[in-house]
Amino acid sequence: MKQRSLFTILCFVLCVVSVSAQQQCINNGNFTPNSTYDVNLRLILSYLPSNVTAGEGFFYSGSIGTEQNRVFARGMCLPGSTSDDCSVCIKTASDGLLRSCLNQKGAFTWPGEPILCHVRYSSTFFDDISTELYPRKIIHNTGDINSNALTEFTPIWEGLMARMIVTTSVTKSKPSSSNSYYTADVAALTPSQNIYALMQCTPDLTPHSRDCESCLRQNVGDCGQKQVCIVIRASCFFRWDLKKFSKAFDNITLAASPPSLQPAKKAKAKAIVVILVPIVVVVIIIVIFVLLARRYAVLCWRRKKFQEFDFEQSGITTVDSLQFDFKTIKVATKNFSDRLGQGGFGAVFKGTLPNGIEIAVKRLSKASAQGEEEFKNEVLVVAKLQHRNLVRLFGFCLEGEEKILVYEFVPNKSLDYFLFDPTKHEILDWSRRYNIIEGIARGILYLHQDSRLTIIHRDLKASNILLDADMNPKIADFGMARIFGMDQSGANTNKIVGTRGYMPPEYVMQGLFSMKSDVYSFGVLVLEIICGQNNRFFQQSDNTTENFVTYAWRLWKSESLLELVDSSISENCEKEEVKRCIHIALLCVQKDPKDRPTLSTILLMLTSNTIDLPDPQPPGFFFSNRRNQLQEGLESSQCYSSETTFERV
Ligand SMILES: *[C@@H]1O[C@H](CO)[C@@H](O)[C@H](O)[C@H]1NC(C)=O
Ligand SMILES: *[C@@H]1O[C@H](CO)[C@@H](O)[C@H](O)[C@H]1NC(C)=O
Ligand SMILES: *[C@@H]1O[C@H](CO)[C@@H](O)[C@H](O)[C@H]1NC(C)=O
Repeated sequence: MKQRSLFTILCFVLCVVSVSAQQQCINNGNFTPNSTYDVNLRLILSYLPSNVTAGEGFFYSGSIGTEQNRVFARGMCLPGSTSDDCSVCIKTASDGLLRSCLNQKGAFTWPGEPILCHVRYSSTFFDDISTELYPRKIIHNTGDINSNALTEFTPIWEGLMARMIVTTSVTKSKPSSSNSYYTADVAALTPSQNIYALMQCTPDLTPHSRDCESCLRQNVGDCGQKQVCIVIRASCFFRWDLKKFSKAFDNITLAASPPSLQPAKKAKAKAIVVILVPIVVVVIIIVIFVLLARRYAVLCWRRKKFQEFDFEQSGITTVDSLQFDFKTIKVATKNFSDRLGQGGFGAVFKGTLPNGIEIAVKRLSKASAQGEEEFKNEVLVVAKLQHRNLVRLFGFCLEGEEKILVYEFVPNKSLDYFLFDPTKHEILDWSRRYNIIEGIARGILYLHQDSRLTIIHRDLKASNILLDADMNPKIADFGMARIFGMDQSGANTNKIVGTRGYMPPEYVMQGLFSMKSDVYSFGVLVLEIICGQNNRFFQQSDNTTENFVTYAWRLWKSESLLELVDSSISENCEKEEVKRCIHIALLCVQKDPKDRPTLSTILLMLTSNTIDLPDPQPPGFFFSNRRNQLQEGLESSQCYSSETTFERV
């Protein structure tokens, strides 16, 4: 009877939801009709149906145009679609977006009933999930689920959601393979009533990261106790319903419900019940207690997260909000007692603020010639750079001679600590290394392109890549050139800051730097990550004129690239993925900066198998028959330099 009433309570809600409006405009500016952006947008959207159906797993992501006229577009069809359906869906979706988001630079949609495809376009690269969560759209039935029904409904619904989020976020095998990040599932509410749910993330989300999971958690959270709900975000889709809304549910069999007891066995069952009930009651009380304790812990954690989030959203606008007292810093670091390391610009210490937040404090060496106002302004600029793959700058302290930068504390030390250690390097298996490579690329891309400032790092190296608790990379020491008041023009500079082995030839020889200098350093870094060796201690016994980069180049020429791979990962890695990474690294270390790809291209190459890689040209510092003196000078000092930063004034 009870089940029946539950059924009627839920039944009236069927299908009142409007599924036509599964689209969302992204408010990041408008374009002028018939402008280059408009033309590019229409062009890439016209290609999209054929590009998607030609792509592996019916997925495509690409761009057309340059600079502010560049349009990024992405399309995908859900598993099980035919090529024709897919093509039609993408075309209809694109036309629909152009119409309803008239002249807006960005938009996305997950159209169809049932949902069949996804289209998105934007003037910026689809990147960090933290900026991808909004805007979103929730489409649901009015009215909450009757509170009498909730006690039975909630655990079943939540169980299904929890299970599906986990399955969806781990169903990814290869980038852009079909069925990735996709789950359809069913749970029985009553014998005659099921809950149907479908989840999908876009396959270009970082593999091995939690992006898909956190996107879906937000979606499910947005649905609360709403009856029948669809949530779309740029990178994930969620829908649940009480009716079968997709063919995807056809093949799913529900777990059988327990058979009812036979009458003959009832007496025996009664006896068992009498004995078992007290035991069960005690167990249940314990379980409830444990659950409550955990729930309380989760609530606290959420609140903390929320506060952090709020802090970020509030936007830092004044210098005052960033300034720390010297006294506070002194207390937090216990008078600079816990030294974490020595960087190029000063020593780094660990500290804990009165509110419990752990920090890393960089005490700048006195050499900085920067005036107070300039210093403050630059700190303000750098503190605004916030990205999942950048170490966050909380603020600064300026008192007398002291100039101090206060950063978030990143728990797992730096990449070199693991990578170049004879035993610890085994912790970094291939999937972690791949995740690190991708994260570094995303971080630099943000510095170069998406932060609107074009920050060139100039000192990318393994010791400047920190690792968080989940081994995600965070780039440290960016913006130091600004804070230290050095030339930003990229023209000839007579002060060279960088680390030997990571610096491109044009920088060492002529002092020229550009975004392509960071690309070169990134290439060296990728080779180190794959090889598990520090380029500066690299030495081939049989050939003294060879360095790390030329060694990789020689292996490329002799088609024996896999010799480069760290022995601890060579057994258990995706060989093609590794080769592709080495190939990309070689493109980054090409001699002519113009030949080196930009970070956005690099990221596309890393995340999409469908993009063909050009053959690399020889790298910088490549020795043909003739050697000039400078090269020789550099070469002879290749293998001894210490951890310090190399400066030439
Ligand atoms: C844009 O170009 C089309 C075709 O060339 C033309 O019909 C239309 O009037 C133009 N629109 C504007 C706003 O210039
Ligand atoms: C997309 O389609 C266009 C036109 O069919 C084609 O020229 C282009 O090469 C395709 N892009 C990719 C990456 O397949
Ligand atoms: C269901 O299973 C059949 C046979 O195994 C298969 O042909 C069909 O494509 C499946 N349907 C879906 C929607 O997965």
